[in-house]
Amino acid sequence: MHRASKAKIFAGHGRSVFTMNVSQTWASLFVFEKILAAHKSLKWICEIGTGVGSLSVYLSTVAVIKHIPFLTIDIGDSQIPLAAKSLLSLHGTCLLRGDVFESSTKGIIKSFISEESGLLLCDGGDKKRELVEIGCVVGEGGIVLVHDVGNEWKLDKIKIPDNLELYEPWHTQSIGMKTSLAVFRTKQTVPM
Ligand SMILES: C[S@@+](CC[C@H](N)C(=O)[O-])C[C@H]1O[C@@H](n2cnc3c(N)ncnc32)[C@H](O)[C@@H]1O
Repeated sequence: MHRASKAKIFAGHGRSVFTMNVSQTWASLFVFEKILAAHKSLKWICEIGTGVGSLSVYLSTVAVIKHIPFLTIDIGDSQIPLAAKSLLSLHGTCLLRGDVFESSTKGIIKSFISEESGLLLCDGGDKKRELVEIGCVVGEGGIVLVHDVGNEWKLDKIKIPDNLELYEPWHTQSIGMKTSLAVFRTKQTVPM
């Protein structure tokens, strides 16, 4: 096979969601599926780092099925293809443009991340900072997934927010499947 066509096939690792390249591995999508299916009472989904919006389309579809709101944030100009943008709009997705660390954007995110349980994905430009500064407000019963652990950031080099703990066996299984997705949940409170 010609070298150029080989490169084309493997660009984006050949994975796609609704024909758009997705930067997550199939194993990561499996982790998303299992966690979202296991947590039927999630009340919101929030993605930091929209990128081209392929995972956003998947998450917005889940949100529609669950009848819950979905917010995705990106600092950059929209890289989302028109068809995906139309689908996200049809799904009622909140597409926020802004720097996740800028106070007004952070304020919007924090008010979206209500006290009710939800799922937060940290997949922007500084995942460990997103975990520390945004993950800390996720309420009881919430799940926080943080991408690129092991390549961009190290678990033992950060202070995990007080409200969160590693969610086992998911975290170890996820890492074992080489997903690079760290999996946290809010600490379980023991009823008095
Ligand atoms: C790896 S891509 C996201 C991939 C997407 N979640 C997916 O799975 O398809 C990271 C995105 O984070 C965005 N980003 C970087 N720094 C950011 C910031 N401070 N606030 C919001 N978005 C940011 C970039 O513009 C880029 O589109």
